[in-house]
Amino acid sequence: MSTAAPAVQIPAHVPAHLVGEYPLYLGAVTYENPFDRIVPAIHDGPEAIYSLNAYPGYQPAWIFRRMKDLQAIYMDTENFTTKDFAPFSKLLGDTWSVLPVETDPPMHGLYRNMMNPLFTPRKMALLEGRVRQLALEYIDKFKDKSSCEFMEDFAFRFPIAVFLELMGLPMSKVDDFLEWENGLLHSPDMEVIAASTRAVKDYLWSEIRKRRENPVDDLISYGVQVEIEGRKLTDDELFGFCFNLFIGGMDTVSTNMAWQFRHLAENPKDQALLRANPELIPNAVEELLRAYAAVTTFRTCTKPVKVGDVQLMPGDKVAMPTTLVNRDPDVFENPNEVHLDRNPRHITFGTGIHRCVGAPLARREMVIALEEFLKAIPEFSIAPDAKILTHLGGVMQPATLPLVWNK
Ligand code: HEM
Repeated sequence: MSTAAPAVQIPAHVPAHLVGEYPLYLGAVTYENPFDRIVPAIHDGPEAIYSLNAYPGYQPAWIFRRMKDLQAIYMDTENFTTKDFAPFSKLLGDTWSVLPVETDPPMHGLYRNMMNPLFTPRKMALLEGRVRQLALEYIDKFKDKSSCEFMEDFAFRFPIAVFLELMGLPMSKVDDFLEWENGLLHSPDMEVIAASTRAVKDYLWSEIRKRRENPVDDLISYGVQVEIEGRKLTDDELFGFCFNLFIGGMDTVSTNMAWQFRHLAENPKDQALLRANPELIPNAVEELLRAYAAVTTFRTCTKPVKVGDVQLMPGDKVAMPTTLVNRDPDVFENPNEVHLDRNPRHITFGTGIHRCVGAPLARREMVIALEEFLKAIPEFSIAPDAKILTHLGGVMQPATLPLVWNK
């Protein structure tokens, strides 16, 4: 695992015994499966740690590993803000916020009401046929072979294709989107993050301008036309809305698919169960979402507040690791075991006012991917001797997943 030497002062309110190493910071990588040893080891430690490098740019942040603490922070919009939870806008010297995620009440409620109708289960049912068709198009490309590079051939591209469809953008942009998404979400280098943000901004703005001239039936046109409080969105609001869909809607789905397929490749009994009983897939996806939650976002403390026994002060950053709390031993029995029929109450999609608006879409994509892959491909496993590098940080993602099967 790589490490980075932070050069940061420890604030006076932080007790020395809580200052600790956090292994899952942005920029760290590992060749071991982080869920096997690293995540359980954090649960053997204190309930909170103050890590000097947990916030992007090797900056300090608190990490709470217990479900009850994280839930309390998610619900507490009085003492915590999501403003500036990501570095993107600042890196360009811009004024937009990622919207709605970087906004607080009362504005957040207006934005959220504007977005909720976009991802209802009914809307997702209408999209079902097209999403399935896109999954099949990618699977068709390798189904007659005896191997695939699951990330490259499927997990990265399929959610991008679904996203392009929703946004009314051409499928020819899949490779560009993949490159920008990697630069934005997996590079620890602020210059790379800034360059990728600029590329996304330039491209999305060129499309926004076209929709202003000629609106059609897609999400960008929705943003151009929708009204809040009797007015259209400002330029900053409109771009923040499109950008939130970009950072929220693709890489997260790719990542969860990676962990789900990796689990099935390494656990032939679970794979056989779902192959024989595809109706179990939706419930299985929920347990796999719990066990392999990959997203960590951030909050900033705005007023002095205690979380459990820990005193936080204004300005403190707090990491929100769904990865840890979904394996909290006080909430889940044998949290490090996967039981496909567990039916867990996980918070992989967050909780409270910012709970993921795209969850119904993400669930459909993941269920469809498993249904169609298991139908088309016989029993698969991970290629012998494969070394899988995992990016840690905000979205904990295997970079590759070479799968093999007998034709
Ligand atoms: C498995 C896939 C996904 C995971 C694990 C995931 C996870 C999350 C989490 C944890 C949050 C809460 C962030 C916080 O409170 O700090 C969130 C919010 C959000 N997600 Fe997702 N997400 C996924 C897929 C999607 C998709 C497909 C979309 C859109 C197409 C999307 C759009 C959003 C948006 C717009 C928000 C902000 C909601 C708000 O602030 O009210 N996400 N997501």
